[in-house]
Amino acid sequence: MQILQQLRSSLEKLLLGPWDLRHQCTLGLHDPQSEVTVWLHGLGPRRDVTDNHLMACGAPFTICIGFDREESALTKGVANLALKFHENSSNQELLGEIALQFTSSLHVGSQTLCFFHTAGYQNHCLPRHYLWTRSLRETLRRPPTRDGEVAITAHESRAMSVFYICPRPVVLVSVAEGQTGNMFPMNVMGRVGNGYFAFGLNGTRSAAPLVELVGRVVLSSIPFEQASVATSLRGNHRKPSIDWTQLPFATTKPDGVEIPVPEFALRIREMQVEAAHKLGSHTLFVAKTIRDQRLGDGPEFFVAHGLYRAWRQRKGLDHTETT
Ligand SMILES: Cc1cc2nc3c(=O)[nH]c(=O)nc-3n(C[C@H](O)[C@H](O)[C@H](O)COP(=O)(O)O)c2cc1C
Repeated sequence: MQILQQLRSSLEKLLLGPWDLRHQCTLGLHDPQSEVTVWLHGLGPRRDVTDNHLMACGAPFTICIGFDREESALTKGVANLALKFHENSSNQELLGEIALQFTSSLHVGSQTLCFFHTAGYQNHCLPRHYLWTRSLRETLRRPPTRDGEVAITAHESRAMSVFYICPRPVVLVSVAEGQTGNMFPMNVMGRVGNGYFAFGLNGTRSAAPLVELVGRVVLSSIPFEQASVATSLRGNHRKPSIDWTQLPFATTKPDGVEIPVPEFALRIREMQVEAAHKLGSHTLFVAKTIRDQRLGDGPEFFVAHGLYRAWRQRKGLDHTETT
C-alpha cells in the first residue's frame, strides 16, 4: 500500500512538478498587498491598476477597471488592451497576461466602470508542460455545474487562474435590516477609483438580493489566523438570514455601527450602495465608503491561485504565513 502511495506521489511530481499542487492558497499579507503589481497596457504609457480593478463576474468571466468619465471613451475600440501581472519580490518578472476585450461600461457618479471579457491569456508561473498537466487535472476534477448556475468555461477558468496570480483579500460582509441579517465571506471586490468600491455577488444566492434590498454593508478585514473560521461561513451565501448568536465567534458593534461585525475585525469599512448592475452569474454593486476605521494590525486573510505559490516555491521565495 505504502509503495503504491509513493509511486503515485512520484508520478504526480514528475507530471505536475514538485511544487504546491493546490488550486488556491491562503496568504497572510498587509493590505494593500505589494507582492504583485497589475499593469494596464494599450492606452499610452502602461498604468498601474493594482488598486483599481476587480473581477466583476464569474460567468462570463468579466474584469472591471475604473476610469474617470473622460478617459473611459478611450477604452472602446482599442484592440490591444491587456493586463500584465509582475511580481515585486525578485526581478519584476512577468507572471501572467490577460488580453482584454471591451464589452460595456457603467457610469456611477464621477466614475466610469469599464467591463472586459478575456480575449486571451498567458500564464508564466510554471514551465508550459506543467501548466498543461495541471490544467488537465483541474478539468478532470471539476464538479458538474449545479442546476440554475451559469457554467464557467475551461478558457475562463484558466484566465481566472492568471487573474488570481495577484493575491486578493477576503473580508466578512455584515448586512442587516430589522430581523433579517447575514454575514458571509467575500473576495470578488476592489477599489475602482475616486473613493468608489465595487463587489460582485452571485445572483443565484440569497446574499445578493439582501444587499440590494438593504443598500448598506460593513466589510470586516480578517486576521490571517481567522481564515478558516471566516471560510466556514461560505454556506451563509445561500441563507436568506442568519441567527447572529449562532456565529462561531463573538461579534461587536463599534461606536456608530448598527450591524454586528466580528470581534476580531482588523478594519471595518461601512459602505453605501449606489448602483447594482447585473452581469451574468454575478450582480456588481458599486458603493461609496462612509466609514473606514482601523481596529487592529497584522497580516490579513488573502487568497491567490496555487500557481502563484508554486512560482514562489520554484524561486525559493515561499511565504512564511500560508496554509
Ligand atoms: C473565501 C470565500 C470568498 C467568497 N467570495 C465570494 C464573493 O466575493 N462573491 C460571491 O458571490 N460568492 C463568494 N463566495 C461564495 C462561494 O462562491 C459560494 O457561493 C458559496 O460558498 C456557497 O456555495 P457552496 O455551497 O458550493 O459552498 C465566497 C466563498 C468563500 C469561501
